[in-house]
Amino acid sequence: MFNGREREREREREWEWEWEWEVTRVRVSIDGERLWASLMALAKIGAYQDERTGLWGVNRLALTAADGEGRRLVKKWFEEAGLQVRVDRIGNCYGRRKGRRDDAPVLVGSHIDSVPTGGAFDGCLGVLGGLEVVRTLNERGIETARPIEVAFFTEEEGARFGTDMLGSAVAAGRIPLEKAYGLTDRQGKTVRGELEAIGFLGTHPERLEPPHAYVECHIEQGPILRAAGVDLGVVTGVQAISWQEVTIVGRSAHAGTTPMSLRRDAGLCTARLNLRLYEMATGGLYGELRATLGGLQLHPGMVNIVPGRASCTVDLRNPDDAQMAAAERDLAEFLRALSAEMGVDIQTRQTAKTPRIAFHESVQAVIAAAMHGRNKTHQRIMSGAGHDAQEMAALCPTAMIFVPGEYDGISHNPREYSTPQQCEDGVNVLLDTVLELAND
Ligand code: GLV
Ligand code: MN
Ligand code: MN
Repeated sequence: MFNGREREREREREWEWEWEWEVTRVRVSIDGERLWASLMALAKIGAYQDERTGLWGVNRLALTAADGEGRRLVKKWFEEAGLQVRVDRIGNCYGRRKGRRDDAPVLVGSHIDSVPTGGAFDGCLGVLGGLEVVRTLNERGIETARPIEVAFFTEEEGARFGTDMLGSAVAAGRIPLEKAYGLTDRQGKTVRGELEAIGFLGTHPERLEPPHAYVECHIEQGPILRAAGVDLGVVTGVQAISWQEVTIVGRSAHAGTTPMSLRRDAGLCTARLNLRLYEMATGGLYGELRATLGGLQLHPGMVNIVPGRASCTVDLRNPDDAQMAAAERDLAEFLRALSAEMGVDIQTRQTAKTPRIAFHESVQAVIAAAMHGRNKTHQRIMSGAGHDAQEMAALCPTAMIFVPGEYDGISHNPREYSTPQQCEDGVNVLLDTVLELAND
């Protein structure tokens, strides 16, 4: 407890710091070249050349050897920046920079795992952007009242174990640790086993103490900001996501001798499902529904055999929860009717499901003010992609910064590209936002 005089002195110190903060607020900017160099260095890990286009992309599926290598590099960078690093039991990695007060930190971050055909920016911009903020503050000797933490979360993509935002969902308490550990990839390898194999099965409790706020800088991964000609986006929330695996069992048979009327063709069923999804997404009945059939496998997959078994994934997105529910209900009805008509068995398994998430107005306001302060044009935008931020939103006030992308914002593709200037602009706004939030 402070006595009266000590409290006065403490208050004076706070004023000095506030004054210093007022001065530094207009002065400090990140090192855009260093940020870019870090992005390009990380992109070398898991790099592959696309056979058709010759472009270089990134294949760093979660918990593979490449992901392990990427994680070790970023962890080393965290340590070199003086961050106190901890790895939790689901492999999420946090680096902490002390504040003057031992209060709840401002958390920034994203993910460094990729889809198998990814680019250099998805997720990495948020993690390396957070690191760049810390490096900048270190260089300038700037302290903050609250601690700052930078995180990368496990298996954000869901591309290997089938459930997206896995690590952040476990940290937020939406998915139990044991359930996450038991998820398997196509070879039957478990999350727990693969965490262990790459040396990232941490010991720190997986449930995250609520941070003061969470901010994520990410590429837009779509065409909206570029088409509008604005510099940056303030993200208002994330649309609802529903993933399921569909397994169809019919009967394999000779392709030359089996009359069309006697077939129970599982492959044909996936084609009809795909067409149905297209009709649902373009027919206007379900609002702004987007629907994608992916991960298609036909068995035995031979030229002269009617496929007896098929499996595929279905990805539905909708900014409206009620319209999403209607689409899911009607799709289930369609599959029941298809099964009866085609004489096949159809099973579905939900692998991921999240509702529409709205980000916190006050964090959005801080981000918008930072963009304004940097003379960057901006607009509010709803995210089409899923993000770790939507899980953190359950724990603390949360919002995101979007950086536009070139080539219609194409992403999950080696062509994914944001310019060095766009990345620098986004991370400067991240810096200003973090400073504002970490000094309140
Ligand atoms: C994450 O990349 C998603 O699928 O939205
Ligand atoms: Mn991402
Ligand atoms: Mn992604």
